[in-house]
Amino acid sequence: MTQEISSLSPSAEPVSAMVEHASAAQKKVFIKTYGCQMNVYDSSRMADALAADGYQQTEDMEEANLVLLNTCHIREKAADKVYSALGRLREMKKTRTAKGEEFMIGVAGCVAQAEGEEIVRREPGVDVVVGPQTYHRLPQALKRARSGTRVVDTDYAVEDKFEHLPDPTKIAGKRRVVTAFLTVQEGCDKFCTFCVVPYTRGAEVSRSLSQLLDEAKRLVDGGVREITLLGQNVNAWHGKAPDGGTMGLGDLLYKLAEIPGLARLRYTTSHPRDMDDRLIEAHRDLRMLMPYLHLPVQSGSDRILKAMNRRHKAADYIALVERIRQVRPDIALSGDFIVGFPGETDEDFEDTIRLVEHIGYAQAFSFKYSPRPGTPGADLPDHVSEDVKTERLARLQELLLKQQHDFARSLIGQTMDLLLEKPGRMPGQIIGRSPWLQSVNVDAKASQIGDIIQVRITDIGPNSLFGEVVES
Ligand code: 5AD
Ligand code: SF4
Repeated sequence: MTQEISSLSPSAEPVSAMVEHASAAQKKVFIKTYGCQMNVYDSSRMADALAADGYQQTEDMEEANLVLLNTCHIREKAADKVYSALGRLREMKKTRTAKGEEFMIGVAGCVAQAEGEEIVRREPGVDVVVGPQTYHRLPQALKRARSGTRVVDTDYAVEDKFEHLPDPTKIAGKRRVVTAFLTVQEGCDKFCTFCVVPYTRGAEVSRSLSQLLDEAKRLVDGGVREITLLGQNVNAWHGKAPDGGTMGLGDLLYKLAEIPGLARLRYTTSHPRDMDDRLIEAHRDLRMLMPYLHLPVQSGSDRILKAMNRRHKAADYIALVERIRQVRPDIALSGDFIVGFPGETDEDFEDTIRLVEHIGYAQAFSFKYSPRPGTPGADLPDHVSEDVKTERLARLQELLLKQQHDFARSLIGQTMDLLLEKPGRMPGQIIGRSPWLQSVNVDAKASQIGDIIQVRITDIGPNSLFGEVVES
């Protein structure tokens, strides 16, 4: 839906009159990202599209001429947070525009997609609303907004946004990035009964093999050493092989592994049902496929898994993890969990605790069930009380946190490859990324960003590890 709504802007001065003030200095954009890694990726592509339009990204909202909220709709609180942020931004807009400065407000992401016009109706300060499939048109939407027309552009665009976004490695003034996301598929056809993704992000669409190989090569030419393949349901990716056959994510990983200069591959987020044999073989054969897998199970109770329409049992998940661990023993698991899904009893919850104890997670994300209007889960009977959800979440998180610490502690004294990503706070210190996705601080004066060096882990902090260079 593309809507143009005449301006109800609360600013004292029409936005069009303010452009001149802003064009004297470089325009700046502040992007606030909510939610998943797909949104982190989308934010960086929006920053690229805006850079081509003359915007520089800033970490300081006070100096921004455009504040863009890239929103998440997965839980109720996430959408509430957006509306309260927009209320604060409206006040900020009044102050800034009174000073004659350009200050625009944009909403992107899944709340934008789901609420569309409702956002401009509820929040008079918002200038543009763009969906996950239309953000490549952000510069045009801003242009129209400057001439006094508020824009809601949440179409499922006919054209492919990826064809209309600038090359991320060719943005002037951007520092070298060594780790990058590459979206391989979007949307989801799984329809888990708690989840809004199939509604907000739409049906599953895979990008073509040739498009992905081209983009991956461009990223590597631009200095990228580690690529994380992204998708709401990434391991459902499928494409056409050059011989006309069908390829899956495993085949794609083998293809990408041939790119000279690329050192590491990852992918996220996967559904257990789509972990096929070829993908498991890729974990066996490709050393550059990092030994870390985000594989959400959501619950350990078969009854609840059925009600969630997950279409696998707890035992299937455990057997799958065992198969993957057999071929790649150093693999670490990460997961997502929901507590308090409608009908979840104490016994069901104990099944989840038992599953977590059995698997042992290096990292995990756990949430209280949040009923989303329009999803089948919201209409189920026997909703669990907030108190019980809180209690269960606390117990689950205590266990998961302990497992996370145990895993980090088990690395002390171990030697591992570290991909050097960015300068640290102290001179000579560099922050690198371990195979298991942790940040590691190391004094590595002789090395450069983008190098992979051997380090020995000496200590663990609350959010990162410390290491020393192992001289070869
Ligand atoms: N309530 C709580 N958590 C949810 N998730 C998705 N939908 C909901 C919901 N309605 C969680 C799932 C998913 C992660 C991205 O968010 O665990 O894997
Ligand atoms: Fe949502 Fe389930 Fe699809 Fe994941 S697999 S995006 S939880 S519907």
